[in-house]
This record gives sequence, structure tokens and C-alpha cells, in this order.
Amino acid sequence: MGKMHFNCYQACEGAQIVAICDADEKRLKDSGGMAGNIEGADKALDLTGIELYSDFDRMLAEANLDAVSITLPTFLHNNFSSRALKAGVNVLCEKPMGLNLADCDSMIEAAQQSGKVLQIGQCIRFWPEYAHVKEIIDSGQYGKVMAMTLRRLTAAPTWGHENWIQNIERSGGVELDLHIHDTDFVQYVFGSPKAVSSFGAMRPQGGLAHLTTYYHYEDGQMISAEGGWMMKPGFGFEMSFNVVMEGATIMFDCSRDPSYKICLDNGEVLTPKMEIDNGYVPQIKHFVQSVRGEKVPPVVTLESSRNSVRIVEAERESIRTGQRVALD
Ligand SMILES: NC(=O)c1ccc[n+]([C@@H]2O[C@H](COP(=O)([O-])OP(=O)(O)OC[C@H]3O[C@@H](n4cnc5c(N)ncnc54)[C@H](O)[C@@H]3O)[C@@H](O)[C@H]2O)c1
Repeated sequence: MGKMHFNCYQACEGAQIVAICDADEKRLKDSGGMAGNIEGADKALDLTGIELYSDFDRMLAEANLDAVSITLPTFLHNNFSSRALKAGVNVLCEKPMGLNLADCDSMIEAAQQSGKVLQIGQCIRFWPEYAHVKEIIDSGQYGKVMAMTLRRLTAAPTWGHENWIQNIERSGGVELDLHIHDTDFVQYVFGSPKAVSSFGAMRPQGGLAHLTTYYHYEDGQMISAEGGWMMKPGFGFEMSFNVVMEGATIMFDCSRDPSYKICLDNGEVLTPKMEIDNGYVPQIKHFVQSVRGEKVPPVVTLESSRNSVRIVEAERESIRTGQRVALD
């Protein structure tokens, strides 16, 4: 993910990458050939003129940074983000905000005490088709949403540093690492749900393999999301949604062509073309603008990033107890 951030900053006018830190010196010096779920992760970067560090505190002390991206394994988000904030450096930290609510609270406190920007990488809020469908829903042009289903399915990730993603103590499992993208988007569009009912299948070695959640809202809308990372490699990656509205059915599936369709009452099918193909660049531009003190729309807040972790924790409890879990 660090490579994705690197490429996005390069696309941001006026932003200059001055330093990179990675504890793994081999990865640091040889930035090519890595595996991952991000397009371009296997391509080498041109690191000319960039200081390379394996010690984070040394980088903070020497590199004169305005801002840093924390693209570390999730269990390190709080520790490294809080250290950077305390050193007076603005932080863009990858999702999920933290492994648990205590981590999130500690990060929020560090941000408040430093007065610096802390933004969490909830990239789906910036993803072109997701941002577009939210605009459509908010506008009311096709009436009310009756149902929305979201899906995010992939093969088990194996490329992480010391296989941290497979270690649920370090990643929080499929629900916190992958499915939280959809939980967060549900919250962004419909507000925090009143309750969740979740169903899950466990992996033989423990932790969830696959889950489905119904997010309960007072007006009876049927909103659900399915997430899983036990698909076989040939399955690829499914990131999709269907929205059932009074006046339209809106569909997105990243593996289909056309991937985004708006189907109307009269049989007409619109296929809006998006100008960009991911949410990472607008997310990083948003962060850079915030660091510069420019006014930005409240797309992502610390409270909402924390709340997404809280909702995922309620989803886990619902699976564990077999009960609907209320969120106040
Ligand atoms: N927004 C998205 O679409 C998306 C996609 C993938 C990953 N992520 C998030 O990005 C983060 C990183 O995931 P990844 O897949 O890039 O993991 P990764 O294991 O590929 O990369 C993590 C890097 O951190 C380095 N590292 C580990 N411990 C360190 C330490 N103590 N000091 C300095 N460097 C250290 C490792 O050497 C490695 O290069 C996670 O929080 C993950 O949830 C987000």
C-alpha cells in the first residue's frame, strides 16, 4: 500500500516525497517485485533523491516532514501515527483506524493534542462509482433506497510482512481488514445503523472466513454487506454493489464491463464513465489540501472512522452470540 501512496503523492501538484521508512531493509532498497492486491505493487519505484530510513524516529527527527503516510500493518497504526503526531507531523493512516476502540481513542487524542491533521484511509468514500452513487442517493432524483447490497470477496492475502494479515491478532481478520470498507460506506451513506445482525463462517485455524451483515435502520431499508477472503485464486476480486431505488436499479461490479450501470423504469440503461479508476488519488489530494489548510468537504471524519471499527466490533458480537446487536 505504501507504493500506492507513493504514486498518488507524485500525482499531487506541489507535494514532494523526501523520505521512506521500512523496517525491512531488503524491501526498502528493492521496491520492485512485491506481491499485493494493489495494481502496480509489482513495479519498481524510482527512489532517486529520496532518503531511506529503517528507523522511524530517526526519520521523524531528520527528514523535516510536513506529513507522513502510515501504511503499516494494522496493529502498528496507533503506535506510529501517535508518534508522528506528537512529533508535529500530519498523518494519513491506512484503514482500519486501529485494531480496537482503545487504539482509535489514543489516535484521536494524539491528533487533538498536536493540532495536526489525522485522516484515515477510507478510500471507498472517494472511489468514483461509490462517491457517484452517494451523490445520486443524496439528491433523491430516483426516490428512496429500498435495498442495497455490497460485496467484497477475494483470495486469502498472503503477501503481508511476516504474513501479518493472516494473524487476526495483528490484522483484526477479514471483518476489520476487508469488510470494513463496506461497513464504512454503509455508514457514510445511511448514517450509523441502529443495530446489526451478522452471520459468519469460521476458518479451521480460527477467525472468520466469510460474513454477511444486515444493518438495521428505522425506516426498514434492507442494507447488507458480504465479505470474505477464502475465495480460490481463480475467483479474482469482487468489489460490487446493487442499489434498489424507487426509480432506478444501480449496479457496480469492478470485474464487469461496463462496471457501472443505472437501469431506469423505461428500460433505458445509463453507463456513466468515471474520470478516474480508483479512490486513492482523490483521498490523498483531500489529505494534502487539509494539510495545506484548504477547506475540504467533510468526506471522512475521525469520529466516523472510529465508528466503523465500533460497528465491526458489534458485527463480531452478533456472530458470536447469534443475536442482533444494538448500537446506541
Ligand atoms: N485502502 C486499501 O485499499 C488497502 C489495501 C491494502 C492494504 N491496506 C492497508 O494498508 C496497511 C498495510 O497493508 P499492506 O498490504 O501494504 O502490508 P504489507 O505487509 O505489504 O506492507 C507493510 C510494510 O510495513 C513494513 N513494516 C512492518 N513493520 C514495520 C516497522 N516496525 N517499522 C517500519 N516498517 C515496518 C513491512 O516491512 C512492509 O513493507 C494495512 O493497514 C492494510 O489494512 C489498505
